[in-house]
Amino acid sequence: MSIMAEFLSLMLMFSVASIGNSLSLNYYEKTCPDAESIVAKTVKDAFSNDKTVPAALLRLHFHDCFIRGCDASVLLNSRGNNKAEKDGPPNVSLHAFYVIDDAKKAVEASCPGVVSCADILAFAARDAVYLTGGPTWDVPKGRKDGRTSKASETIQLPAPTFNISQLKQSFSQRGLSMKDLVALSGGHTLGFSHCSSFRKRLHNFDSTHDVDPTLNPSFAAKLKSICPLKNQPKNAGTTMDPSAATFDSTYYKLIIQGKSLFSSDQALLSNPQTKSLVYEFATSREAFYKAFVKSMIKMGSITGGQEVRKDCRVVN
Ligand code: HEM
Ligand SMILES: *[C@@H]1O[C@H](CO)[C@@H](O)[C@H](O)[C@H]1NC(C)=O
Ligand SMILES: *[C@@H]1O[C@H](CO)[C@@H](O)[C@H](O)[C@H]1NC(C)=O
Repeated sequence: MSIMAEFLSLMLMFSVASIGNSLSLNYYEKTCPDAESIVAKTVKDAFSNDKTVPAALLRLHFHDCFIRGCDASVLLNSRGNNKAEKDGPPNVSLHAFYVIDDAKKAVEASCPGVVSCADILAFAARDAVYLTGGPTWDVPKGRKDGRTSKASETIQLPAPTFNISQLKQSFSQRGLSMKDLVALSGGHTLGFSHCSSFRKRLHNFDSTHDVDPTLNPSFAAKLKSICPLKNQPKNAGTTMDPSAATFDSTYYKLIIQGKSLFSSDQALLSNPQTKSLVYEFATSREAFYKAFVKSMIKMGSITGGQEVRKDCRVVN
């Protein structure tokens, strides 16, 4: 990165961060010391009933932070003629909102009006990673909840069809680096994807290829049988990786083998810097975990809200 670009992205990070509020590790020490353990218990209970909960919570936090900062805008319901983020087009598979509602209720019972929904979501995402075998970390706290959520703004999320320059732009606009991009994409070690998110790679890919040539051929054949051109079953799709219930570095190994689902995953090989990080994370779980934690804290520090919501689905 040139000095100028570095300077600009630092300035941007600074301006994004300064819209919100500064975070600290001991923010609730006096006002709600049990907030994190209450959330952790709620997430754990939900996970014991439904193994898809961790992936959902991690993705919710990511979507939250990428639009208007981590301000729980992703949790707001549509109201009147305002369609909220959760009803925007990339909402497919956003779920487990009830876990955040349950956690909020339990936290409110202990310290009403103190802990923001945005913080609860950040705790829950951290707990989700840990419960599935990943690393854990101290979450900086003190986010505030926002009062605006617009379906039209979900266009600002990166799309699975994005190439490396589009990904780079999307992340750098939020003060996140190419290393953050590679590390955070590792979230795709968890969860499920619908055919609609990778279908373009399987049928009429471009003028010379029916199937994306970067896909491993037998993997492509398997995906085609799950997502046929005609009569695709409703809600068809596949797990992100064969160990999609475990937070590990399989995701990076799959990219190298041409077995990642999205063009945006495969794109990480198309730039020398991101490519070498993919290889590093594929071989060193420690390196991946360390980078992931650092990047989650960085992504989680993009703030933007104003209040502590009473109900995570509606503004005060
Ligand atoms: C780099 C840009 C990214 C793109 C283009 C992207 C795109 C997607 C898409 C298309 C899906 C599947 C939706 C579906 O078809 O159901 C998905 C799922 C998921 N994403 Fe991402 N994502 C990105 C970054 C991230 C980040 C930074 C995280 C978290 C750190 C993340 C975590 C997840 C998880 C956990 C799922 C599975 C959700 C579930 O099973 O409920 N993604 N992503
Ligand atoms: C996703 O958005 C559509 C409208 O665009 C809405 O009908 C649907 O209920 C939303 N799904 C979720 C899980 O919120
Ligand atoms: C990425 O996609 C954009 C938009 O389609 C295009 O303008 C750009 O040239 C592409 N960049 C690369 C590196 O392929």
